[in-house]
Amino acid sequence: MVDKIKSIDQAMRSYYQEALISSDLVESILYSIEAGGKRIRPLIFLDLLEGFGVSLTRAHFQVAAALEMIHTGSLIHDDLPAMDDDDYRRGRLTNHKKFDEATAILAGDSLFLDPFGLLAKAELKAEVALALVRELSEASGSHGMVAGQMLDIKGEEKRLPLEELQKIHAHKTGKLLAYPFVAAGILAEVDAHNLDLLRQAGELVGLAFQVRDDILDVTADFDELGKTPKKDLLSEKSTYPSLLGLDASRAILNQSLDDVLVIFKELEAKQGFNKDEITKIIERLRLHG
Ligand code: IPE
Ligand code: IPE
Ligand code: MG
Ligand code: MG
Ligand code: MG
Repeated sequence: MVDKIKSIDQAMRSYYQEALISSDLVESILYSIEAGGKRIRPLIFLDLLEGFGVSLTRAHFQVAAALEMIHTGSLIHDDLPAMDDDDYRRGRLTNHKKFDEATAILAGDSLFLDPFGLLAKAELKAEVALALVRELSEASGSHGMVAGQMLDIKGEEKRLPLEELQKIHAHKTGKLLAYPFVAAGILAEVDAHNLDLLRQAGELVGLAFQVRDDILDVTADFDELGKTPKKDLLSEKSTYPSLLGLDASRAILNQSLDDVLVIFKELEAKQGFNKDEITKIIERLRLHG
């Protein structure tokens, strides 16, 4: 896992080593990239590919890097004063606190646009690259994460019905967590049915992941989170814990993860998928009361 993270980081960093136009911009981008983070989305992607028996190449690490870049950009913008207004991220000052707001906005813009160039440069079959670009755009923009962020901001200071909260989570977090599942399926050239199963698994992990983040906002401390706890309470966000309580939220988290494991079993039976490594990542997402 350590080696995989190193190669993901290297694939991101190398995009910013050539043709440096603004060192201020690149410094700000690398500040957030190098702050670390769990790298869960790219690790899921790489473990799924290996589960399908695919040998990892440089191009796969570039796909993993593209996804992590969009995610990192989403965090920089999520923390801005006009959004969640957070001072800490990944255990250090947020990008706009370390630099300034304009720089943070532009670093985020870069991290949203550069991944498409990186994908286009990767040594992949043209139709595979095209499918990966289309899916990444849909997962990120006005059909995905950005739309979810809009719903999230509009939902502040309101007690939303559960269906509305599900829709927010499915978009702001679910789409970018489903991407590694869909992208691995595309690269492993699975059939349409199995691609659909992978997408379902990814959406379940996405829901579980945001419910987990909402629980940790209430129960964890700064050292564990690397970000300020109890922020959702302060900005009166509707969350699973605020609507349903902690016990019910944990039950939903665990049930979603169980449902993912059922899908892995089906893929194992039908496609010879080796689920051992990816199961370890999924199991680490459980929280016990
Ligand atoms: C945080 O994502 C934002 C959510 C979608 C909940 P991560 O928990 O994956 O953040 P990092 O990348 O590890 O910092
Ligand atoms: C973030 O949700 C979703 C994103 C698209 C970044 P949160 O606002 O709950 O994430 P944190 O808690 O700030 O990491
Ligand atoms: Mg937010
Ligand atoms: Mg936030
Ligand atoms: Mg949160």
